[in-house]
Amino acid sequence: MALSICAVALGLVALGNASPLLSKRGVSNSASSLTFLYQNNLNYTDDVNHVGAILLDEMPYAQASAACASLSESLLDWETITAHRFDFERQLAYQSFIGKSQQTQRYYIANGQVISATQAAGSIQLVAPPTRDIPLPVLCTQSSSVNDPSAVATESNQVVVSTKTNTYVGFRNQKSFRFLGIPYVAKPDRFTYSKYPSAPSGTVDATKYALQCSQPWPASYPGVSGKTSDDCLFLNIQTPYIPKAGSTSTNDLRPVHFWIHGGGWTGGTGADPGTDGGNMASRDDYVTVTINYRLSTLGFLAIPGTEITGNYAFNDMVNAMKWTIDNIAAFGGDPNRIVINGESAGAGSVRVLLGSPPAQPLFQGAIAMSGLGFGLSLGLGYAYSETYGDYLTIQGSYDIAGEGIFDEMGCSGTLDEKIACLKTVDPLALVSTATVARYPVQDGIYVNTEHLILENNNGSTAHIDVMFGTSQDEGGSLNTYPKTPVSTLSEGLQASLGLDATNAQKVIDSGLFPIYNTGNITLDSFNVSTRIMTDLEFRCEAQATLYAGDASGAFKSAHGYQMRRTYWGYDPNGLGGAPVTPGYPYGNPNLPYFRLHSSEVANCFGNLNPLRDENDLYTIQLSSGYFSEFVKSGSPNPSVRYLTARGYQKSIDGAAITGKWTEVRNKKGPIMLIDYPAELSDFVDLEQCAWLGYPVDYYYK
Ligand SMILES: *[C@@H]1O[C@H](CO)[C@@H](O)[C@H](O)[C@H]1NC(C)=O
Ligand SMILES: *[C@@H]1O[C@H](CO)[C@@H](O)[C@H](O)[C@H]1NC(C)=O
Ligand SMILES: *[C@@H]1O[C@H](CO)[C@@H](O)[C@H](O)[C@H]1NC(C)=O
Ligand SMILES: *[C@@H]1O[C@H](CO)[C@@H](O)[C@H](O)[C@H]1NC(C)=O
Repeated sequence: MALSICAVALGLVALGNASPLLSKRGVSNSASSLTFLYQNNLNYTDDVNHVGAILLDEMPYAQASAACASLSESLLDWETITAHRFDFERQLAYQSFIGKSQQTQRYYIANGQVISATQAAGSIQLVAPPTRDIPLPVLCTQSSSVNDPSAVATESNQVVVSTKTNTYVGFRNQKSFRFLGIPYVAKPDRFTYSKYPSAPSGTVDATKYALQCSQPWPASYPGVSGKTSDDCLFLNIQTPYIPKAGSTSTNDLRPVHFWIHGGGWTGGTGADPGTDGGNMASRDDYVTVTINYRLSTLGFLAIPGTEITGNYAFNDMVNAMKWTIDNIAAFGGDPNRIVINGESAGAGSVRVLLGSPPAQPLFQGAIAMSGLGFGLSLGLGYAYSETYGDYLTIQGSYDIAGEGIFDEMGCSGTLDEKIACLKTVDPLALVSTATVARYPVQDGIYVNTEHLILENNNGSTAHIDVMFGTSQDEGGSLNTYPKTPVSTLSEGLQASLGLDATNAQKVIDSGLFPIYNTGNITLDSFNVSTRIMTDLEFRCEAQATLYAGDASGAFKSAHGYQMRRTYWGYDPNGLGGAPVTPGYPYGNPNLPYFRLHSSEVANCFGNLNPLRDENDLYTIQLSSGYFSEFVKSGSPNPSVRYLTARGYQKSIDGAAITGKWTEVRNKKGPIMLIDYPAELSDFVDLEQCAWLGYPVDYYYK
């Protein structure tokens, strides 16, 4: 503690023992912008066969070598270019496509040589150097070759960026520039709002992830500590482009994908390698920001009649967005084009923020992947998922998660004494109790409606482009695989959903959930219960939201999807993914498997290893392209011109088969079923949703 106070006083934030890293070369973008060139096909095992480059602004050749050296790189040579000809042709064609370069553009490379790249032909050739040392853009090597988020900073891969208030020491790997563990606010006192601006100024070591917010079961990944802390309000940036220091031009700024992690509002981290933005930085040229926010009782405790009004997690998200708006241009991001996206509780957060007055001015698009909602049907009582879409009052939250927390922490006495006690207990102990607060509450500030208003365009809900979607069988992550084999569908439904016999029979009698007979009744009844759970807790709400928000005009536009191809995901039942068969050591996706909760994230971020088959690769290429285009323009259809400039042939082919992903238009959708190729479809299970009590016009008649 004393150490970190000391460090802050010295203007060195979160420096730990990494201080020797601070570059002696000074600010990396002082003389030129830095554009990261890497032809990224998203095939992880193919990364070893690719090299990238860093493109610098025009300068005389006399300065070029030193400019590359200031990045610990050298001028790119012709041998390297010819050995990776396709990659460099496409990369330079794309620079021309976005207007950074001319249609035909010369570049300085090593050994006094000059190349000329022509966009239309997509060709590169050596040309005679100019007779005078005129300024031309410069290609430097990019030798940081670690291809995943576990890359660490070294003396030679550092990238130092200055903003008005701070100097950020980041680094690069094979795919992007990376700035990790940036404090976006000062640590707030417990159960109070974080304040913006409040982050310390000075030099920030942004080469390592910060600790995850206090949670009982933190994940650990290579380069990501499994430790947690209540000093955790940090964000991470991956970017393909850094403008020249002090540049006021907004022309080259890239759209910003602002990621809000899931984890039931009690777990998760912005450092999850599955949501690292490095692949998308190079593949589709946008900036990703991933954040931590307070979790569990630290993020949500709400006590009626006190100043502890909850929603601290949303307060953190809003402040992280404010930091992004004020600072992201220095990292190449466009503060006027921010698309928020989250999965699971992250999607629940996006839903809250869509209706949250302090948040609404701060973003221009929203994606909600696999949000929860509904759930009250078939005698299932106050289902868990309901609390994501229907906001409790402060009293309602306290009734569930109030006294129990005091009791378990051994805090007694008057309410004031109990609160004072709770403010001093160990943060990890506080989030490890059986009872925790984890509910958005109607506090009149961050949340001022009972649920998202989808009945009109009256300012209650952000009137922007949205995308909502689900994974095909994600209810299979929330129901229970029968502990012992069952012999009838009714028994199976009772065991896997907790239905009573009467409600199980109602399901059977409805004829709406027919059994898919594989001869294994335990599996087959679980499959039926998975469909019910998927409808009840994910699909019906997503579709009803899309329909209502579109029909009422609450949303500017609405696109929907269902993930038909997914990978590994949240699998508490140990279903194990697609079955392994000869030739498919990681599972054969052509055989039946459950598309579980959180198993689709690679379709957005492109982070997938290993691949089960080639269509896995083509799917993440196609699907991440849809998400990227949504981040850029609010509509998920990339132009053929763009895909051609980039050389993304499989995505051109896929889109040609599928056609356009059109907006939701009526009670039938449509939605895109995402696979390779994808397929446009009507909404799924409309009759089933209506029977369960959640018709598609639930929010808007
Ligand atoms: C918008 O309309 C809804 C539903 O009709 C209503 O509850 C809400 O108060 C209105 N909000 C505003 C800001 O007018
Ligand atoms: C039914 O399927 C499950 C899940 O794949 C498997 O564990 C079980 O052994 C199968 N039961 C029978 C009788 O084949
Ligand atoms: C589950 O049932 C559906 C039909 O409702 C079928 O297409 C799918 O293959 C089944 N899944 C498994 C794992 O058996
Ligand atoms: C991925 O890259 C590896 C290594 O270059 C290659 O063998 C494999 O065919 C590629 N996969 C696809 C689907 O292109």
